[in-house]
Amino acid sequence: MSDEYTPKIVAFCCKYCAYTAADLAGSMRLDYPTNIKIVQVLCTGRIDVLHILKAFEKGADAVYVAGCEPGDCHFLEGNYRAVKRMAYAKELLKEVGIEPERLEFFHIGASEGPAFAEAAKKMTDRALELGPSPLRK
Ligand code: FES
Repeated sequence: MSDEYTPKIVAFCCKYCAYTAADLAGSMRLDYPTNIKIVQVLCTGRIDVLHILKAFEKGADAVYVAGCEPGDCHFLEGNYRAVKRMAYAKELLKEVGIEPERLEFFHIGASEGPAFAEAAKKMTDRALELGPSPLRK
């Protein structure tokens, strides 16, 4: 692996929880990787498999979706639908030769700044371990 490899990570974050947690992590001055590109969405239920595939196609080394805690989705079941869709997206990634570990879903409440920082670190570490996405090679 090249010494210059800095993983590109895309994080789709629900406006009501994970995005607020990301803001909080910043306000708390928590230390987390700066290579995360956050995309705010109204609800993770809005994330389509195509959004995930597009992120990888555009050069992401890892992608994660962060939504409300179970039972807390403002649109009732959006986060449950997102979890199912991510499982399906992982299958598709496997079929096209991309490690499914490059995709993850996290439940992160609005007050959980440290959990957001932890998820960012976890996905960065994972992307470092896996190396650049096969689509980038
Ligand atoms: Fe946050 Fe649905 S409103 S996951």
